[in-house]
This record gives sequence, C-alpha cells and structure tokens, in this order.
Amino acid sequence: MSVPAGPEGVSHPDVIICPRGPLLLRGDHLVDDGEGNIVRTERPVSAVCRCGKSETQPWCDGTHKVLPPKLQP
Ligand code: FES
Repeated sequence: MSVPAGPEGVSHPDVIICPRGPLLLRGDHLVDDGEGNIVRTERPVSAVCRCGKSETQPWCDGTHKVLPPKLQP
C-alpha cells in the first residue's frame, strides 16, 4: 500500500489498525493499560490488544485469532 508523505515528510503511519486484530504502534510510546498502569514500549513495532482477551495486556498475544468472529475486534 502506498501512503502519501505527511506534513513532515513521514511516509509511513505510526499507528496501524489491523482488521479483527491488534493495533500496531511503530516506535517509542507510553501505553495506558486501562487500569491506570502506564507501560513503555521501545520496540520497533508493538501490538496492542483490541479484543480484551490477551493474557499479556495491554499487548496482543494472538488470542484474537481463536475468538469467534463476533468477539473479534
Ligand atoms: S487483539 Fe490480539 S489478543 Fe487481543
């Protein structure tokens, strides 16, 4: 997929929403896990759970792949 350059010449998104899957973050971010805990990610790409079923919240552990379609994000 081709993405036009943004206002600062950036040619790729920092946030990618995967259909029926996680949200991908590119680069360093602080993530609120929804329970008041702030966690830092410094990985090149981090997958944030959107289905709420991961055992490693706030990160995706792949559980969304085995959920029935109506429970997938
Ligand atoms: S989105 Fe992957 S486990 Fe929730």
